[in-house]
Amino acid sequence: MKRSRIVLYLLIITSVALLPFVAMAQDEVATEDVQIGFWDECPAPENLPETVSIGAIFGLSGPISVYGGSQSQAVELALTEINESGYLGEGVTLVAITEDSAGDGEQAIAAMTKLVEEDQVVAVLGPTLSTEAFSADPVAQENGTSVMGVSNTAIGITDMGDYVFRDSLPESSVIPGTIAQATTILGLERVGVLYGNDDDFTLSGYDVFVQALEDNNIEIIGEETFARGDVDFNPQLTSLIAGEPDALVVSALAAEAVQIITQARALGYEGPIIGGNGLNSPAVLEQSGEASNGVIVGAAWNIANPAPLSVEFAMNFEEAYEAAPDQFAAQAYTGAWLYATAIRCADSVDRTEIRDALAAIQDFPSPLGLFSFAEDRNPIHDPVVQIAQDGKFAVLGAEE
Ligand code: ALA
Repeated sequence: MKRSRIVLYLLIITSVALLPFVAMAQDEVATEDVQIGFWDECPAPENLPETVSIGAIFGLSGPISVYGGSQSQAVELALTEINESGYLGEGVTLVAITEDSAGDGEQAIAAMTKLVEEDQVVAVLGPTLSTEAFSADPVAQENGTSVMGVSNTAIGITDMGDYVFRDSLPESSVIPGTIAQATTILGLERVGVLYGNDDDFTLSGYDVFVQALEDNNIEIIGEETFARGDVDFNPQLTSLIAGEPDALVVSALAAEAVQIITQARALGYEGPIIGGNGLNSPAVLEQSGEASNGVIVGAAWNIANPAPLSVEFAMNFEEAYEAAPDQFAAQAYTGAWLYATAIRCADSVDRTEIRDALAAIQDFPSPLGLFSFAEDRNPIHDPVVQIAQDGKFAVLGAEE
């Protein structure tokens, strides 16, 4: 099948599949009065101080800010709701002390050290990148302070210790379904693989992609690598495209992903580009323009999710920031609510009691669905597969 036809076919089935999905979302909003925070497993706390501080470490400058900016906004939205609803008791305010890690491991360590040792926060959200988390999370672990990744998707994050959590689905929970679904729809037989070989997340994504491709009997016709900060991918893409792959498989962070997508199209490649979590940002689509049509990415959350709490979150975020939230925002928002819930249940600012209360949360209603941590402190919920369509992520074959 010609590449351009494949993309056209995907766009048509996705549009048709999404119609009932979106209509259902509107129905549910109209008929249900929903609000996050009506989780009454724990009574209103009585022993908290007037101000409770959590830390947040996000990439707020440099290329990583496409993720960190929306994470920070989402946490502020959650805190406003938590405080306005009196979730932590009358007169108690939850605040976030936010630090910029700029995508850098050393900055993440400095930020984590300041937050847990000087600021004495009760818990920490972030850092944005898995690479930063592998550097900084041991500081939280050593200080007996829980840290929750809200975008870390590399393998092994929670293996760092019993104070390390994440609410972000790892690549290993998302990519196998993405490859399986893309294979069913596209009939993939041969792909070319391009991945960053100097970053924990991109390396992890590569490992999971290779295993998933093998599991689906897909031949890898070529593998190429790059490093963070590279801007010219023409040599690698030229080599992969020469092998006439049915799809390009890419494990990259946003800045490199934009260059890869636009340069692949400029070289005349019209087929699907299947990516990991790094591509799952509206900024990647916006910066790639038309070239992003046909990009396929697995996700923990999509804005078309019709569940009432998800729709409400998206509406409130848009109202607050005049921009649509992305998956990074949904996970950061949920993370802030999970910490608020742990603090409420602990009814204490003792870091260990908060850690234990966090681990015990089961079926918390959130934009990500009913949220629970597994025994290893990874999240349990289902992913979706998305396709980029005219600058937006649509759910791939939503009703199939
Ligand atoms: N998911 C990316 C990471 O884990 C942002 O680094």
